[in-house]
Amino acid sequence: MNLFSPLNLGDLELPNRLVMAPLTRIRSGQSGVPGDLVALHYTQRASLGLIVSEGTYPSHAGQGFPGQPGLVEPEQLAGWKAVTDSVHAAGGRIVAQVMHAGRVTHEATNGGFPVVAPSAIAINGTTRTYDGKQAYPVPHALTAEELPGIIAEFVLASQNAIAAGFDGVELHGANGYLLHEFLSPASNVRDDSWGGSPERRARFVIDVVTAVAAAIGADKVGLRISPEHNIQDALETDATDLAATYGALVDGLAPLGLAYLSVLHADPRGEFVQNLRIRFGGVFLVNSGFGAITARDEALALVRDDVADAVVVGRAAIANPDLVHRWQNDLPVNDPNPLTYYADGAEGYTDYPALAS
Ligand SMILES: Cc1cc2nc3c(=O)[nH]c(=O)nc-3n(C[C@H](O)[C@H](O)[C@H](O)COP(=O)(O)O)c2cc1C
Repeated sequence: MNLFSPLNLGDLELPNRLVMAPLTRIRSGQSGVPGDLVALHYTQRASLGLIVSEGTYPSHAGQGFPGQPGLVEPEQLAGWKAVTDSVHAAGGRIVAQVMHAGRVTHEATNGGFPVVAPSAIAINGTTRTYDGKQAYPVPHALTAEELPGIIAEFVLASQNAIAAGFDGVELHGANGYLLHEFLSPASNVRDDSWGGSPERRARFVIDVVTAVAAAIGADKVGLRISPEHNIQDALETDATDLAATYGALVDGLAPLGLAYLSVLHADPRGEFVQNLRIRFGGVFLVNSGFGAITARDEALALVRDDVADAVVVGRAAIANPDLVHRWQNDLPVNDPNPLTYYADGAEGYTDYPALAS
């Protein structure tokens, strides 16, 4: 298969197999309302096969960063509607990454709501809040009675995303946020039906995905995971446990008929990831993680060698609004500026030039 060939994903037809990675850019202010600059940023990138939005919070408690956009308030949804309308008018497709930060936040970021997680274990380190850097708090361990409420938040946020014009949602089960915290034995030490064994640690993610799929249609739902990423203290260092946990997860997902599974892993060609692909059985996206920036050769080879159906591309898409054109024609690319990843304004956001056509 070729990186520049079309791909059916749910009811979408992607013109190419380059997927813009979810990329947090914290340019939505304290209100969490994406504005004109956010709309311009995504619209400039409409030629990518699919855009996955930056992580957006499904509830105020789930906000992870100052300036992050939400899918909660009417003004936020109106802001997103302008974004999705603009992307669609430019010929693009966009899904919302629904991200509950779990314990990767602070009361001084999320508006004073309790910070929640599977277990009352704090991350070792500090987080940037509206009141400066703070140590991560010890989170409130969600009770079994509270879990349906969290599932309901994911469902409502996903329905809100569809109402705001998104073509679907990607549930964020990666990078140490709430869903990943349930999967990792380091952050989930529960002894009830949602912890204590690989199968039980996989259960909450399956519950959330199943509920969202029932609410908006499985063909509009993707899931992102990052097994063994070992980030934000969501450690997964035991290979046997890892295989059992993610095996149980994909076995639970496979019957649902999801739009896709997106896997962030340093070795997408390896047996572990390829086994997940076989067991999942649907459209499979990969990204090899934060080490080396995804480059043209890697992306071409991943699809050509049938490692995945499509490739998720982060930093190259930040720096090149016309990435598809550049990579298809093997043209020079702009380098991203990491200093402007998490900053304000247009610099490093909407001012990367496209090549003159
Ligand atoms: C500035 C920045 C923000 C990111 N935000 C998110 C995010 O909101 N959700 C997510 O799942 N991954 C996020 N990631 C990870 C990217 O989606 C991607 O996996 C990573 O950049 C590695 O891919 P690359 O080499 O193509 O850039 C972010 C990465 C960067 C550099």
